[in-house]
Amino acid sequence: MKIIRAKDYDELSRKAANVIAAQVIVKPRSVLGLATGSSPVGLYKELVARYKLGDLDFSGIRSWNLDEYVGLTPDHDQSYHYFMYDNLFNHVNARPENIHVPNGLWKNPEADCAAYDAEIVEAGGVDLQLLGMGTNGHIGFNEPDEVFTRGTHIVDLAETTINDNKRFFASAADVPKQAFSMGIGTIMCARKILVVVSGENKAQAVKNACFGPITPKVPGSILQLHPDVTMVCDEAALSVCGDLVK
Ligand code: F6R
Repeated sequence: MKIIRAKDYDELSRKAANVIAAQVIVKPRSVLGLATGSSPVGLYKELVARYKLGDLDFSGIRSWNLDEYVGLTPDHDQSYHYFMYDNLFNHVNARPENIHVPNGLWKNPEADCAAYDAEIVEAGGVDLQLLGMGTNGHIGFNEPDEVFTRGTHIVDLAETTINDNKRFFASAADVPKQAFSMGIGTIMCARKILVVVSGENKAQAVKNACFGPITPKVPGSILQLHPDVTMVCDEAALSVCGDLVK
């Protein structure tokens, strides 16, 4: 795992945007796995700016998002579908038919999740998967558990996640209790993985995921087994790693 140190969130966003920009330039038909949440907001802004400068072309890319809250309609302003359009797709030339986000209203979760994974395989697999990380070490919405999950599936959100994400809702009671999420297996099939982590509240999760035992109790620790992971962290997110990160 390659860990890149950034002095603050802005530098983290620029460095991470460089990795995605390089991918899109080198392979214009890339399959991207995309993430939401506060961590990638800055890097999406960077990508939009570079698109506006004429340096990036998204017309060939295909994308599948990591996750979505169960029960939220795509036009709900806290849905991840809405987030992706608001932060990226409304501002660049990706083709709507190439953009995929799990639908919070899926009626047959098992079949719909399996179809989502099958579409990714059919597209040739994910070239570059973007991830954030939860304070409990989750990736996607794969929460600490006894086992690693395989494919896209329905998840009961952990109390810590509901608590962390209540800042986006009127109250904790308004945060959906479940989500659809790519599985650990889906994520680990990506050819390259880019993780962005910012803030002191993530510092212990970063240390556990990068240097602790590989265990489903820290879902991000599985990334130690992937051959091509780049993690971009700001100083605050690395604050308990000490000399482990140069
Ligand atoms: C989002 C996702 C989550 C977030 C994580 C961190 O699509 O899958 O794993 O990356 O919860 O969220 P933020 O960035 O809001 O701290």
